[in-house]
Amino acid sequence: MSKLSLAVDIAGLKLRNPVMNAAGVLGMTPLLLKHVYDSGAGAVITKSLGPHPRAGHPNPTLVRVEGGALNAMGLPNPGAEYFVDEIKELKKMGVPVIASFFGGSVQEFVDVAYILTKAGADALELNASCPNVAEEMGMLAADASSLEKVTVAVKDETSLPVFVKLSPNVTNIKIIAKAAEWGGADAITAVNTLKAMSIDINFKRPILANTTGGMSGPAVKPVALRCVWEVAQAVDIPVIGSGGVTTGGDAIEFMLAGASAVEVGTAVMTHGVEVYGQINDGIREYLKENGFSSVKEVVGLAQDS
Ligand code: SIN
Repeated sequence: MSKLSLAVDIAGLKLRNPVMNAAGVLGMTPLLLKHVYDSGAGAVITKSLGPHPRAGHPNPTLVRVEGGALNAMGLPNPGAEYFVDEIKELKKMGVPVIASFFGGSVQEFVDVAYILTKAGADALELNASCPNVAEEMGMLAADASSLEKVTVAVKDETSLPVFVKLSPNVTNIKIIAKAAEWGGADAITAVNTLKAMSIDINFKRPILANTTGGMSGPAVKPVALRCVWEVAQAVDIPVIGSGGVTTGGDAIEFMLAGASAVEVGTAVMTHGVEVYGQINDGIREYLKENGFSSVKEVVGLAQDS
């Protein structure tokens, strides 16, 4: 019997396994990200980095809700330049780094991509889908032609693989995914958080200072899975699944729908950072029990049935 392998290759990025943290989760310092890697992730993803330091929204920015959590951080970050040394430090420790980034204009996206490429990141994740900031910075992923333009510009600037992270808050995610692919995206991450809100009935006010936030966690998994399914049908590049993955079984569901890898965020709140290793254990067990020798054999299988 051949040896069981969890290794994956996403657009040339070779990883020891298909599980990563979602951008923003433990992504603020190299030590936290190293901890994610040591806990079993195949690569780590930084907090979304922009052209300038940004304070983000006032508190409260996070609230637990049934089935997950809502966040409205507002893309707080120290700026891409500040993170250059952090990326170098992670690389020295042997950690594969995907740098998540955003901008307020095409030029800003390009400038930040340049900084992060020079810093030595292994890949870039273009965050086109934060639901908590002004449209030009966040919901680029709602407009196919703008997304294509920014992807083309970023791809012209960097030789790194570029993963474009899409939003579930759109009418037709297939059209948006296709636009990113036309722009030269090397992979699609599906999806960012679902726009949502929560109200305090005693104060009679929205709980989040930003009024609305992005929902993540187990309750959004069926939505994210449907998005991965549709994106995988629309494009010929790899898809990375994100949204409510908590167990190895969840990761397998995303792979059967067409994802080559998964990102895990909210599950860290409920299961701790050990969740990365636990998900890999679950994937390994499933492969063994079902007679597969690699993750690749599972990707998109449900699409063929
Ligand atoms: C935020 O910073 O508000 C969340 C980031 C994102 O959803 O991309």
